[in-house]
Amino acid sequence: MTTILEYHPELKAVISECAEVAGYLWQKGWAERNGGNMTYNITDVVDDEIRNLPAIAPARPIGEVLSHLRGTFFYVKGTGKRMRDLARHPMRNGSIIRICEDCATYEIIADEAVLPTSELPSHLSIHDYLIGSGSKYKVSLHTHPIELVALSHNSGFLNEQTTRTLWSMIPETLAFAPLGLGIVPYAMPGSLRLAEATLEQVRSHDVVLWEKHGVFAVEKTMMDAFDQIDVLNKAANIYMCAKSMGFTPEGMTAEAMKEIQEVFHLPTERPC
Ligand code: 13P
Ligand code: ZN
Repeated sequence: MTTILEYHPELKAVISECAEVAGYLWQKGWAERNGGNMTYNITDVVDDEIRNLPAIAPARPIGEVLSHLRGTFFYVKGTGKRMRDLARHPMRNGSIIRICEDCATYEIIADEAVLPTSELPSHLSIHDYLIGSGSKYKVSLHTHPIELVALSHNSGFLNEQTTRTLWSMIPETLAFAPLGLGIVPYAMPGSLRLAEATLEQVRSHDVVLWEKHGVFAVEKTMMDAFDQIDVLNKAANIYMCAKSMGFTPEGMTAEAMKEIQEVFHLPTERPC
């Protein structure tokens, strides 16, 4: 079967990156069955040929009116599709969608009529915010990292102190995730309530933790989004390893952490 990627090398590079990350999510054990989803704002690599492709399925509602999304295009994982399959066949386990003029509906334009992820409300409302705020961030990624989800099962970790604990596990955590972890109380997967609460937290954090479910990250590239989650989950893993060895880890001192903040000139809000 011919795929749109054959004649669009820039698009192919982006989708290959999605496929590579999907493979890592599976290898990490973060993507059981159809767990997790990803969207990539590909508007910059869409040429006139792609722009004018006919819809291959009837337009469907987004569930909200997202006015900044007019004329944008996204690669989206298909609902019910597996990351391990997407890693090998990204265009059979995901699709390219075009946001319609009304900013309230979308159409699938390639390659197959694979229905987008059930978390589309969270993904698209965040892309709407990113575009509206002039951000260079183009991807959003949701996955189920074991250690971070495990922490979220204790209400004692559902606060800002958890970020400080994670930062103190190894210097790189603070250096590479300086905005830390935002927390979203449990909400129904795929719901608008989850989307709204995620948007609130994503403005000021590197990664958002969905209580008893997973995480959500936005970044410039899919690889960067994966790295953000990996860095914070590694810190959670170290914390849990120490706990399972029978002690509470000391954590780096406040002085050592301040030194890192100064040396790395770390941002205190999301860079656009
Ligand atoms: P989808 O298969 O619809 O993307 O759902 C996976 C998931 O993780 C929902 O939170
Ligand atoms: Zn999920």
